[in-house]
Amino acid sequence: MATSEEVRHRKPASPDSQDATDMSSFREPEPVFTRFISMTSPKRLERELIDWIKFLAELIYGLVLTVFYIIKEIIDLTVPPRQKSLQGEHVLVTGAARGLGREICLRLVREGCKISAVDILEDQVRETVALCNAMRPNCATAYLYNITDKKQIEAMVSELEPVDILINNAGIVSGSSILEVTDQQIQTMFDVNVMSHFWTIRAFLPGMIERGKGHIAATASAAAFTQAENIAPYTATKYAVTGMMLCLREEFRRAHPEIKITTLHPFFITPAASSPEHWTVNSRLPDVTAAQSADFMVDGIKKEKVTVTVPRHLYFLLQALSWLPTPAGEIWRDIFYARIDSLEKKNGKTP
Ligand SMILES: NC(=O)c1ccc[n+]([C@@H]2O[C@H](COP(=O)([O-])OP(=O)(O)OC[C@H]3O[C@@H](n4cnc5c(N)ncnc54)[C@H](O)[C@@H]3O)[C@@H](O)[C@H]2O)c1
Repeated sequence: MATSEEVRHRKPASPDSQDATDMSSFREPEPVFTRFISMTSPKRLERELIDWIKFLAELIYGLVLTVFYIIKEIIDLTVPPRQKSLQGEHVLVTGAARGLGREICLRLVREGCKISAVDILEDQVRETVALCNAMRPNCATAYLYNITDKKQIEAMVSELEPVDILINNAGIVSGSSILEVTDQQIQTMFDVNVMSHFWTIRAFLPGMIERGKGHIAATASAAAFTQAENIAPYTATKYAVTGMMLCLREEFRRAHPEIKITTLHPFFITPAASSPEHWTVNSRLPDVTAAQSADFMVDGIKKEKVTVTVPRHLYFLLQALSWLPTPAGEIWRDIFYARIDSLEKKNGKTP
């Protein structure tokens, strides 16, 4: 170790002087452990030792619980776990006019929920509500709000609070290459698919915390665990939402364990009768349906699952792909391919 005298007189080293350093002053570094012992007082050593023992105990605790939760997950696949009841809960669903949002609303009717169906498409959202109310009178109401507009979200909070479950499902897609997709499409995708989640969560969360209960769910996509051509901006939005939701889980499990989160990751959904075709999709893996995805969303909320993929095994498949060396992963991606393109191309028009 250098003495304080040596340190005081040593000139600051410049990058150029490095080669010219006097090698005679070079000494073999002391082994880290010897240096550590020589620097530590017995008291500090004792503290370090206790920290290490604690760390070791935590590792063992972590391993035991990991094995426990893996076994529990396997059991849950066969024996349904305890589920919370959604009876009487007020659920706000965005993007409720058609497709997956509509199916989620219909499934919530069966759970005994009070539903606020939010969308910008007036006729279709009224149709969703009419379908819900035909199943159980007065259980659903339609609201016209643009969730990318913060002013409208403020109005929505005043009108709809208290909300027990917030389902951020609205989303838009575009299947074009990075140069074909327009600036406006990229911007709108981020506004609807990502930014609106921040605005609605920050608007409704304080009420949930105050009441000591709440559940926030998001529709992401299987795209958030993988990659495919022609959907770079869309995939980026779904990765963003997935990351945001997982970070919220971390925030809540420490500060607000009463607030739960669920993120749904469906594979390509065969357009529901209520929904238009958004892009052309060609894959060896089968599509899923909107009704099936809605069931997974509601089951995930009831079981307080953090991540839900549709189909379930997709999660393991996509994780396994990510562990492979990149070229090996690409071979499997090519074998099972998921080719996406814009509808304009299919119809022979340039996007
Ligand atoms: N369709 C698929 O293959 C697929 C696959 C995985 C994930 N997803 C995701 O599932 C969700 C639902 O998709 P879908 O297929 O039912 O789409 P969809 O287009 O049928 O429905 C989306 C709804 O969101 C509404 N919406 C859009 N912008 C809005 C805004 N600013 N304010 C309020 N509402 C708005 C639309 O009006 C529409 O009713 C989306 O988040 C989508 O990204 C879809």
